[in-house]
Amino acid sequence: PFGPAASPLEFSPISPVDAMSDTFTVPDGYDWRALIRWGDPLFADSPLFDPEDQTEAAQARQFGYNCDYTDILPLDGTDGLRAVLFVNHEYTNENIMFPAAQLENEQARVRAVSRAAHGLTVVELERTSAEHPWNYVVGAERNRRFLLNTVYEVTGPAAGSPLLTTVEDPAGRWVKGTLGNCAGGTTPWGTILSGEENFNGYFRSPGVSAEDKRYGLSDSETARGWELDAPRFDTRNAGYENEANRFGWIIEIDPLDPTSTPKKHSMLGRLKHEGANISIAANGKVVAYTGDDERFDYLYKFVSRDTYIEGNRAHNMTLLANGDLYVAQFAGNSPASEITGSGALPSDAAFDGTGTWLPLVVGGASQIAGMSVDQVLVNTRLAADLAGATKMDRCEDVEPNPFTGKVYVACTNNTNRGTPGRAGADEANPRAENRDGHVVEITEAGGDQTATSFTWNLLLLCGDPATNSSAYFSGFPAAQVSPISCPDNLAFDSVGNLWISTDGAPSTIGYNDGLFRVTLEGPDRGNVEQFLAVPRESETCGPVIHDSERHVFVAVQHPGEDGSFETQNSLFPDFVPVGTPAPAGSFAGPRPTIVQVLPKEQLV
Ligand code: FEO
Ligand code: CA
Ligand code: CA
Ligand code: CA
Repeated sequence: PFGPAASPLEFSPISPVDAMSDTFTVPDGYDWRALIRWGDPLFADSPLFDPEDQTEAAQARQFGYNCDYTDILPLDGTDGLRAVLFVNHEYTNENIMFPAAQLENEQARVRAVSRAAHGLTVVELERTSAEHPWNYVVGAERNRRFLLNTVYEVTGPAAGSPLLTTVEDPAGRWVKGTLGNCAGGTTPWGTILSGEENFNGYFRSPGVSAEDKRYGLSDSETARGWELDAPRFDTRNAGYENEANRFGWIIEIDPLDPTSTPKKHSMLGRLKHEGANISIAANGKVVAYTGDDERFDYLYKFVSRDTYIEGNRAHNMTLLANGDLYVAQFAGNSPASEITGSGALPSDAAFDGTGTWLPLVVGGASQIAGMSVDQVLVNTRLAADLAGATKMDRCEDVEPNPFTGKVYVACTNNTNRGTPGRAGADEANPRAENRDGHVVEITEAGGDQTATSFTWNLLLLCGDPATNSSAYFSGFPAAQVSPISCPDNLAFDSVGNLWISTDGAPSTIGYNDGLFRVTLEGPDRGNVEQFLAVPRESETCGPVIHDSERHVFVAVQHPGEDGSFETQNSLFPDFVPVGTPAPAGSFAGPRPTIVQVLPKEQLV
């Protein structure tokens, strides 16, 4: 059984929430609570959060900043009463984290705290029954912060490459830290994948080579200035020329073993990975889909060399080290003259066509003339340029539907398409100056996830139908849907509905970002229903849909990002009344937070 009716998570869609509103809005009958907030203590020795007096040592023992990919994995043998929560901490907003006087006079401290607020968190959860909210457990045995001194092992063909060596790691196999961790995915064997996205912003570089330019590495002071504290963040320094090559990977961590060494998988290529999601093909090979989130960049697919073995976790944790890497090329089936850039449907009434997975590395051999395997994997964007991949409108999350195998690609927006000197509209990216984004639906040839060809169609052209006549919902009446813009993270519920969280709607349709359910099958295919809206100036991330328990979780990232410590634009989630002192451990300003949404009666 497919469709919303098959799920116990019944709701009436909320109305869109005005972008100036600093509220967390859920449907009638539901309520929300903060599960864990920036600065919350994780370990027995963690200090309470003190926003006026943050230290590197305290932050390293507390929940980090801007939470993005999130998942909750039940622990075996606990009757569903215990779980681990995994969260990425993508980046920091110093302007609202620190008092103006500290930003001005204590820059070394600001930088050190901000470094410690990056990385990852694993923390255990507990509850008294499935009808009660989760609470996180201070000092539980699996709790872990991954920080900039956490060592990652490089796997796959680029491990040991001269392109990865530095004076601190002459072997080119051991990297300290992970940066820009955006979306992610949970593997069938219970590990977590996370994409290192905007890593270039952390490095000052010569900015002269084709590689530096293609990855946005330039010779200018970085926003956070870490190069002032550590030579590795300035690749102009002798011995650190390759440091930026050691970021931009898909990482894999084991949330069950706090002593495990996390991995950086070179076989999935180096790009501004949004995340990666896996499906197991009929022949047992593991297929990972991953998008490069930059205007006019590409969609990729990895196919493992070895096959999945049910129950053999140690073996399965080696599967992403070896395999083949492809990049997507899309061809439309309508005449180019009918793709005008307006988003108007062509005469066959569909944006659709065929596609090819162009090989980059197959069977351990480079498929790109003039590039070795390690060059292809480290400078993947340049290899994909040579292969002739299709320039997309910023691929964010890419996720296969576990029920149908169809693959969904969130193209969040691309305001540069069709502008002077840039690529114009094509059938897979049919709007010039695409502000609202769209969602691609891919069907692999023969339903085989390892296939090298596919068919595709656009599921949604996002937007507010009241103001944008090109908004399209697979034929579902536009007047009946919730307005949606800038699709970012994707998830599926237990009956195969697609859930989309957004990032950027305030600046395009004037509503706060939120979380939306999209019906994929049956007569209501294309119906978009808004489930929640996040507070002012925040982004909705990491949706976790436990619809069989009527629970939904989201990561609220950068609430109140345009304010300052003294003049906060959001008071989420503590909502300490203005003029009253914040209780110990709370904050009269915004905190990136993991929120649990649950039926109202469960909070009584
Ligand atoms: Fe960090 Fe592409 O969003
Ligand atoms: Ca067509
Ligand atoms: Ca994202
Ligand atoms: Ca985003």
